[in-house]
Amino acid sequence: MRVGVSRERRDGERRVAATPDTVRQLIGLGLEVFIESGAGTAAGHGDQAYADAGAEIVAELELELDSLDVYAHVRPLSPETATRLRRGAVTVGLASPASELPTVRALAAAGITAFALELVPRISRAQSMDALTSQALIAGYRSVLEAALRLPRFFPLYMTAAGTIPPASVLVLGAGVAGLQAIGTAKRLGARVSANDVRPASADEVASMGATFISLDLEAAEAGGGYAKELGEDRAAMQRALLAPHVAASDVLITTAAIPGRPAPLLVTSRMVAAMRPGSVVIDLAAESGGNVEGSVAGSDVLVPTADGTGAVTLVGLKDAASAMASDASRLYAKNVANLIELMTADGVVAPDFADEVIAGACLTEGGVVRHAPTAAAIEAEGAA
Ligand code: NAI
Repeated sequence: MRVGVSRERRDGERRVAATPDTVRQLIGLGLEVFIESGAGTAAGHGDQAYADAGAEIVAELELELDSLDVYAHVRPLSPETATRLRRGAVTVGLASPASELPTVRALAAAGITAFALELVPRISRAQSMDALTSQALIAGYRSVLEAALRLPRFFPLYMTAAGTIPPASVLVLGAGVAGLQAIGTAKRLGARVSANDVRPASADEVASMGATFISLDLEAAEAGGGYAKELGEDRAAMQRALLAPHVAASDVLITTAAIPGRPAPLLVTSRMVAAMRPGSVVIDLAAESGGNVEGSVAGSDVLVPTADGTGAVTLVGLKDAASAMASDASRLYAKNVANLIELMTADGVVAPDFADEVIAGACLTEGGVVRHAPTAAAIEAEGAA
């Protein structure tokens, strides 16, 4: 069976869905692999490395779409690409189902068996296919480095002959995969780190990273599967009020809070940002999905004047954070993709077994139907409107 990997076309996207290493893995499963020329260049893999691993290099994968059995990608497909794949073909990649309804409709209409890596169940057996985790890990790490480069101060404590420099204070809001990675990275750089999350389990996880958990006098907000639940507006306002003094006392604020299938919760208002010291840095990792910080703009730095009129806070809407580290991001992402394909493959044939909860859970469309219930409901609601 033929697996195709395209060169990603979206601006700012540098990752690739296969590496020479995963090409060898796929070939070992009895599959043929076709790599679009230049697909791995930004991630550090030239065409020759793929060819050496046994792949065939093709100039334009778009021209070969109807001959593929499997199409592996990073960013969601366009509706046009979906309609050019052959009926029954399998796609594997990030699909952003909530925000890419036209593509989901096109995938269903074209009879594609589409797997969305966002939908892989968060269970131990599926960890090696969990791209949300692998990419959040990179984004969390990167967020700290972006902050450190903009902060006009050291992160660690320095005792020098010319005086003692106290460590920077870093506050992390949202202590999931990205937040915990940000905490670990900021600790390794020597900062004093504290964090908050609405899930009670996160208090121990934060403490185990050597950071201080900020306990707010709010009820827990946990939904199923270890995810957070959206706070009602009263409690969200209370959370902001309780967080305000902690934000004001921080040199660096990193926000990573998310609610699956919902816009990111607003945790920090412009006023809270303006109350920070001049020179402080805010990194909003949720900027692309609505923003945790009022006024953040995905892909831009915004200078917010401080309330005391003496300077500004740099508010960074971090965008494509994982893509910026395309080499390691691709190494992990491609492995997630190959492992999911491997789970569906026996004797050189890709044949998803929907009795497997990982395969069933990750499936977005199949046989002309949108299998992911929330996405099907969103499409129906859109049709009704
Ligand atoms: P996420 O990206 O959906 O959200 C990030 C964090 O924001 C979460 O920790 C969430 O609780 C927090 N958050 C939401 N609203 C908030 C608010 N108002 N204030 C403060 N924080 C808020 O979460 P992520 O990183 O994908 O992890 C979700 C869960 O899945 C975690 O419990 C994690 O441990 C678990 N997980 C399990 C895996 C497995 O068993 N294979 C793999 C990865 C994650």
